[in-house]
Amino acid sequence: MNLPAVFLCLFFSLLHHSAAQNGANGACGGLINSNGKVFTTCNRLPYLSSELRWTYHSTNNTVDIAYQAPASSSGWVAWAINPTGTEMNGANAFLAFHDNSGVVTVYTTKLTAGGVNVNDFKDEELSFAVHDKNAVYSGGNYIIYATLDLPNHSTKQNTLWQQGPSMSNGAPSSHDISTGSVNLLSMQSLDFSSGDTASTAGNSKLHRKNIHGVLNAISWGILMPVGIIIARYVKVFESADPAWFYLHIACQCSAYVLGLAGWILGLKLGSDSVGITYHKHRNLGITIFCLATVQLFALFVRPNKDHKYRFYWKIYHHAIGYSIIVLSIINIFEGFDILNPADKWKHAYIAVIATLGAVALLLEAVTWPITIKKKKRSAEKSHHGVNGSSGYA
Ligand SMILES: *[C@@H]1O[C@H](CO)[C@@H](O)[C@H](O)[C@H]1NC(C)=O
Ligand SMILES: *[C@@H]1O[C@H](CO)[C@@H](O)[C@H](O)[C@H]1NC(C)=O
Repeated sequence: MNLPAVFLCLFFSLLHHSAAQNGANGACGGLINSNGKVFTTCNRLPYLSSELRWTYHSTNNTVDIAYQAPASSSGWVAWAINPTGTEMNGANAFLAFHDNSGVVTVYTTKLTAGGVNVNDFKDEELSFAVHDKNAVYSGGNYIIYATLDLPNHSTKQNTLWQQGPSMSNGAPSSHDISTGSVNLLSMQSLDFSSGDTASTAGNSKLHRKNIHGVLNAISWGILMPVGIIIARYVKVFESADPAWFYLHIACQCSAYVLGLAGWILGLKLGSDSVGITYHKHRNLGITIFCLATVQLFALFVRPNKDHKYRFYWKIYHHAIGYSIIVLSIINIFEGFDILNPADKWKHAYIAVIATLGAVALLLEAVTWPITIKKKKRSAEKSHHGVNGSSGYA
């Protein structure tokens, strides 16, 4: 039973490796158009080739900012502070675009989970004071200048930035929301006094998604098949008779507990991601969990070995067990498509499944003659009206 421990190490080392590949802040290039302003601090943002410059005034808790980001002249860019959360919902944004007459304009607008209100996109008050704002478009970049009060009298704020390719009917069209898009990662907490950044926002969610993936791949995708392999093949050896049963139960129960944690995390991720629902992944996940729960309760209504319904119970138990494994593996690959991790994760999981398959095949060949012999003997025995087995089949 060291196999799961090996997989666990493998997956966590992969997790660690891929986490180290996330974007980092670095030195700024040059501000294309300074508008005659000078800023004390500059931060090259980790995504979307954007830069933020600012000057923090501790005397009156204000900052002057310049946000520079590339976009087509028919597109838009936005920079936002979210006083109540880390993501788009509740963000207070500065959004720059060319209006219908081609004038570079900056609106302040409050975002909801769905982004801007495209039917009523307007310049509105934010939840903090904005003393000044304007924008320019130069050299393929928008630059937003603004002076604002830091909300909650805190120098540490959750910031977000974004860019989109086009406007439609005077309102910004959606930015790229496809799986793995960096537009879903462009957020970080920023301390305007120290300049410290922390990639909490997007990455904490990414981190939770990774944990969800690892938990579910290990429980549903590895432990459960291992438990089935034990039940199917170890059982065959008479000397392992009650032992295989307890191993099987231990394997499936720990898989269920880990899987439950991964499943709940998945539901939470789903309810947090307003506006994006992965229907197939979600429905498969719920189906698998229900089947596994039924399977757990089936343990308690297991008829005695001699009972006439035992035969049907076995068919049902095996059918549900194999269905869970097949659906789980399908759903793990669905999850790979959603999370889109480095290829080696997928390759590692494929290698694990292939190994389990090869082991199962080998055991099938090894145990086949024993099973045949056993069947013959039990047929003879039942012919003589004797049953000497322990009852755990
Ligand atoms: C905040 O204080 C600085 C000086 O510390 C001043 O230059 C700036 O104009 C003030 N901003 C506002 C909005 O009052
Ligand atoms: C910041 O202020 C907003 C109201 O403007 C409030 O809803 C929010 O909870 C505050 N955040 C913190 C961290 O205090």
